[in-house]
Amino acid sequence: MSRRLAAASNDSIGKVCPAELDPICLPAHVAVIMDGNGRWAQARGLPRVMGHRAGVEALKSTLRLCSDWGVKALTAYAFSTENWSRPGDEVNFLMTLFERVLQRELQGLEAEQVRIRFLGDLQALPEKLQNLIADATARTAANTGIHFNVCTNYGGRRELVLAAQALAGRAARGELDPATIDENTMAAELYTAGEQDPDLLIRTSGERRISNFLLWQLAYAEIHVTDVFWPDFNRDALMAALVDYQGRKRRFGGLEALRTDALGS
Ligand code: IPE
Ligand code: IPE
Ligand code: MG
Repeated sequence: MSRRLAAASNDSIGKVCPAELDPICLPAHVAVIMDGNGRWAQARGLPRVMGHRAGVEALKSTLRLCSDWGVKALTAYAFSTENWSRPGDEVNFLMTLFERVLQRELQGLEAEQVRIRFLGDLQALPEKLQNLIADATARTAANTGIHFNVCTNYGGRRELVLAAQALAGRAARGELDPATIDENTMAAELYTAGEQDPDLLIRTSGERRISNFLLWQLAYAEIHVTDVFWPDFNRDALMAALVDYQGRKRRFGGLEALRTDALGS
């Protein structure tokens, strides 16, 4: 039996990777810059924050589809270190939204075996949100399903600075020989320690920039930019991103294109 058929017969209906995709060459790790919430709302004559609320539904559906289709990790950019510069009302709305959504969704995430983690400088978040994050992280830590990473007060540069500080501290205490620092040592100090680098980065709303997201980890990610605003990011949009990914030739600096399933995980 082919691996595709084996995968299909093991799964219940609806959870199978769609026929348009090769299940063997799926990205193991998808990262997404969920952008365009404000413009989505404004286009409908709504306040910007309504776009954030609608964006939660898009994230829930993307997580479920990734999990059902066999993606192993989904990392979503929810709030950057630069987003504090927005009006206080919008920042407060977002923090309260994160709290409400976490409270409301935790049981479902647990039931679906999702392992949730929050990546970023969490100490700057409201205390209530910090407590909910700690609880959700602990309660799902042993789950065996998709890894769901929510980047909250995340900045790629801050992540690298904190890693440099940690390594310098260990060197100053005589615990680490600076000459032994290599790429693995660095990666182990990042919020994403233990997670495979993203294979695919999706950015919605047409912006063609990284906006301080996963600066180290995206070194060889394939990039898919779509004009769709995040709240409209649905099954078709995810499918288009994955089909685009499966058509890429990943060379990693070499001359031979590697099949996506040939990459070590
Ligand atoms: C992304 O949508 C969500 C966050 C950054 C929190 P935006 O709020 O950036 O929406 P646009 O880009 O202004 O439309
Ligand atoms: C990136 O979106 C951050 C998140 C999606 C959380 P922004 O809207 O903050 O990015 P810029 O300002 O357009 O670069
Ligand atoms: Mg934006």
